[in-house]
Amino acid sequence: MHITRLELSQLRNLSSVSILPAPGLNILEGRNASGKTSLLEAIHMLCMARSFRSLRTSQVVQHGHASLTVFAQLQDSQLQHRLGLQRFTDNRLELRLDGQPLRSRAELVSLLPLQLLTPESTQLVTGSPRSRRQFLDWLMFHVEHGFHSDWMNYQRLLKQRNSLLRSRQLTTLKQWDQGLISYAEKIDTARKGLVAAIQPFMHDYFEKLLPGIEIALHYKQGWRREVSFENALAESLASDSKQFVTGVGPHRCDLVLSTDKRQVADVMSRGQLKLLVVAMHLAQMDYLRSTRNKSSIVLIDDLPAELDAQHRALLLRILDEHDHQVFITTTDRSQLDCRDCKEVKVFHVEHGQIKEVV
Ligand SMILES: Nc1ncnc2c1ncn2[C@@H]1O[C@H](COP(=O)(O)OP(=O)(O)OP(=O)(O)O)[C@@H](O)[C@H]1O
Ligand SMILES: [Mg+2]
Repeated sequence: MHITRLELSQLRNLSSVSILPAPGLNILEGRNASGKTSLLEAIHMLCMARSFRSLRTSQVVQHGHASLTVFAQLQDSQLQHRLGLQRFTDNRLELRLDGQPLRSRAELVSLLPLQLLTPESTQLVTGSPRSRRQFLDWLMFHVEHGFHSDWMNYQRLLKQRNSLLRSRQLTTLKQWDQGLISYAEKIDTARKGLVAAIQPFMHDYFEKLLPGIEIALHYKQGWRREVSFENALAESLASDSKQFVTGVGPHRCDLVLSTDKRQVADVMSRGQLKLLVVAMHLAQMDYLRSTRNKSSIVLIDDLPAELDAQHRALLLRILDEHDHQVFITTTDRSQLDCRDCKEVKVFHVEHGQIKEVV
């Protein structure tokens, strides 16, 4: 599925915008503060019903207005759809697909898989395990149908367990643990399977974007490998009851990326880390495409940042070759050489106005 028409109003400095994006590459070029990231924010809003820059909708809605709207025409092999979103400063949300209200945000999110890459995205490998869990869970959500509800149930039971730890009701703990254990095992088995399945896709992109560097990917399940989760819970009970939180489980899982037995975050350069993170996201999208026949939308804010000319060209060629719709921002179009790209449209952004460059 890709966007064939995008219309939006009252989102940051974008008062009224209408563009016809290409199914492949879309380059948004313009000076600082022209509105490039705001356009990415609009697409993010359309696919996820929320911004990636602000938790408060009132900051995203144009000053002096009560709501923002984003509307898109979508193309899915044979079918066309109309998707509309209105988000109010008081956080109300209205979503419509082909004129009918959408029941949930999850329905929207599964309709248009979205990946966002910003200059901060290297946190995926340099930051806390939470971002790597979110990375894995993005794919789990789109590929494993039961995952979302298993994960919600696990979280609910974990919260209950932690509150029992806080109120020192250790005898009641055991009866809650059975449910927790069963969800934990389901989640772990699914994650383990997924990590194994995406490895070849990742290594393929690692080779393309970081040739000659051996990168190993290792899944840590969130408790000692040698013991069952039930035993791990029993082992950590003493420390859990001191700390009032459950210290082991799928909520503590992690993905460790290393090269030459060293963590990538400790040895790779900024540019290499950026390419690594792009490779990981592209691998996910390709995996989703190959298993569910779903293409994704990719937003890349400031693609040239941290990359030299050779790597910019390489990345652009790879993005052009795969079949996901890509929106890229840059302050300097000459840094993105698209002469050999198959499907590319360039849009000039200036003072909140966006025009296709022909
Ligand atoms: N709620 C709002 N209402 C109106 N304008 C806003 C609002 N929030 C931010 N802006 C303005 O929108 C403009 C565009 O910001 P945006 O971040 O999209 O620029 P950009 O083109 O990505 O710039 P850069 O190249 O520096 O990243 C800025 O001038 C900003 O001050
Ligand atoms: Mg910007």
